[in-house]
Amino acid sequence: MTTQQTNLQYLPSDLKPELLPQHVAVIMDGNGRWAKRQGLPRIMGHKRGVDALKDLLRCCRDWGIKALTAYAFSTENWKRPQEEVEFLMSLFQRALRQELKEMVEENVQIQFVGNLQALPKALQEEISRSMDETKNNRSIKFTVATNYGGRQEILQACRAIAQKVQQGILKPDEISEQIFESHLYTAGITDPDLLIRTSGEMRLSNFLLWQMAYGEIYITDTLWPDFDRAEFHRALCAYQQRNRRFGGV
Ligand code: IPE
Ligand code: IPE
Ligand code: MG
Repeated sequence: MTTQQTNLQYLPSDLKPELLPQHVAVIMDGNGRWAKRQGLPRIMGHKRGVDALKDLLRCCRDWGIKALTAYAFSTENWKRPQEEVEFLMSLFQRALRQELKEMVEENVQIQFVGNLQALPKALQEEISRSMDETKNNRSIKFTVATNYGGRQEILQACRAIAQKVQQGILKPDEISEQIFESHLYTAGITDPDLLIRTSGEMRLSNFLLWQMAYGEIYITDTLWPDFDRAEFHRALCAYQQRNRRFGGV
């Protein structure tokens, strides 16, 4: 059985395969508020958030969506209390170690975008290992934005390009959108078709600023740990109704 047949078998009947987004991005927001509502410490919300992400990855794979990008930690999230930052870093590391085997078996290709050098060494090692062990996998491209900032991404691309101009490798008029994109962290990943943000906040919070030029945005009040298949189904139904004009008529 081919992968495509398997996918169609799981896809809810009101979703049209030809109208599915190729690439879905998520701003997983509201973990803290979820925990507060349950009378739990914020970190419990982050723990449950990992489970929600695991389910969404599996769902995307089942329904034939070829790329999922999740915002896990922004360049601004370092402002949080030290205990929370430390908990998040060790949570990422633990989750990666626990999930790697299954991602290998399920043919998931995982990659990370962001300023990864500033992450704790142990996490960096887990990241390199997971990217290396899944690099030839093709069922879905799963990108985790960690210590990611859209402005920083654009700035580092500018620096790299400026250096090439200075070295005479590139001429200023040769800097096209394509060349520029090839210097972003997301080089080789198509722009998201659909960005979902949970917890009702209506902003990008420095996520994929360049890449979201024409991406559709869907906002739900649901808090991230409660975001499940039924919620995702609703987001995809809404996406299917959108008329993407890209500036045309
Ligand atoms: C998102 O949930 C997770 C991260 C930013 C790491 P929050 O922690 O921002 O949850 P709220 O927004 O405080 O509810
Ligand atoms: C965005 O959420 C970052 C992630 C989900 C990783 P935040 O909770 O940090 O965003 P703001 O501060 O509400 O804009
Ligand atoms: Mg938040």
